[in-house]
Amino acid sequence: MVVGTQWGDEGKGKFTDLLARDQDMVVRYQGGHNAGHTLVAEGETFKLQLVPSGVLYPHVTPVIGNGVVVDPVVLIEEVDRLGGMGVDCRKLVVSGNAHLILPYHQVLDVVAERHLGRNKLGTTKRGIGPAYADKAARVGLRVQDLLDPKIFRQKLAMVLHEKNPLLAKVYNRLPFDLDTLADQYLNECGPRLAPHIADTVGLLHDALESGQSVLLEGAQAMFLDLDHGTYPFVTSSNPVAGGACVGAGIGPRHIDRVIGVTKAYITRVGAGPFPSELTDEIGDHLVDVGREYGTNTKRRRRCGWLDTVMLRHAVRVNSLSDLAIAKLDVLDALDPIKVCVAYDVGGERRTSMPYHQSEIHRAVPVYEELPGWCSDLSGVSDRSELPRQAEDYLSFIEDQAGVPATLVGVGPGRDQFIAFSRVP
Ligand code: IMP
Repeated sequence: MVVGTQWGDEGKGKFTDLLARDQDMVVRYQGGHNAGHTLVAEGETFKLQLVPSGVLYPHVTPVIGNGVVVDPVVLIEEVDRLGGMGVDCRKLVVSGNAHLILPYHQVLDVVAERHLGRNKLGTTKRGIGPAYADKAARVGLRVQDLLDPKIFRQKLAMVLHEKNPLLAKVYNRLPFDLDTLADQYLNECGPRLAPHIADTVGLLHDALESGQSVLLEGAQAMFLDLDHGTYPFVTSSNPVAGGACVGAGIGPRHIDRVIGVTKAYITRVGAGPFPSELTDEIGDHLVDVGREYGTNTKRRRRCGWLDTVMLRHAVRVNSLSDLAIAKLDVLDALDPIKVCVAYDVGGERRTSMPYHQSEIHRAVPVYEELPGWCSDLSGVSDRSELPRQAEDYLSFIEDQAGVPATLVGVGPGRDQFIAFSRVP
């Protein structure tokens, strides 16, 4: 499994793509098109939102699991766009039990954010939260409903009965017309997605039972997790390792390796606490050198020094077996490099994550300084070629986290990585 250990955008797409080479199946288990995974292969940049990162390998079956929320219009567009770039998506499988994001979810996401004013969460405005809310309230429509016009219309009529007055009376928006919406989704999306819709849980277990290898691909990350993140500044799903069992339909005993992806520094998009945030020229440097703008939303990401209090918490909650450290090269020109190793909370030193939100908001980072390497790492492909300071920086992270780093990214390209140590 590949999971994010920060606030997303760690570079999970690159590592998933790298690992997918040796897999038979890659399964997305949560989130939706709020995700943006960037892959660079043979000089071309592929931006994925819903389609699992394994799609670039013809031998991989990419699976969208039951825990994902699917905007069918976006999925069809993505499949078409990838097709135009020569990527064959015919093997893509979508769980019939995955919930649909429909246009009222997206409108509600936008108006709810506006309603929150200064307290807004900074969502991606893709309708993710409202779709998961409907799933929990048991009024969601599912991918399989696209194949059953009668059920689709019945459910949609019921849900619009509630959404339309909410949109019109509370938010002053136009209501949705049942027939227009039903016709569009049933006539345009249903037939296009029909060949892809299947029982993904059954397929996954068939694959496991026949000895195939399966990679679970997390979207977003630990600190955006609905239960374990910096609530309410989180997404509405469970990106943590435990979420994969629910969102893909397997038990924990099937999972033998959990790789936590961390950047060599840290970023966040949207609002919420961020103890090691840099609002100075070093922060600007990280944005520029790391090209820290959202893959899909283009929003500028907030940047800061690596926070190992968070990393240790991610190791615990996800039972991480090893780390993949991304974008080490972005630190090439910085000297010294700081790492947040503890928080000062009201004069008390904390090395583990405070659970109370007001403590996280008040946490002042305690830094250790390490010497920079001041050289270009983008061409390094072997651990022996790393400057001593870079090696020391990585060892420091491993010591802080208590798990080994197995992969280190030194650039966006598929070949720009170092196999750092053996898989534990
Ligand atoms: P939502 O997932 O659109 O509801 O947004 C909730 C929070 O999660 C916001 O702070 C978003 O910026 C953040 N978020 C959602 N998806 C991603 C992602 O893929 N990368 C980084 N942040 C994300």
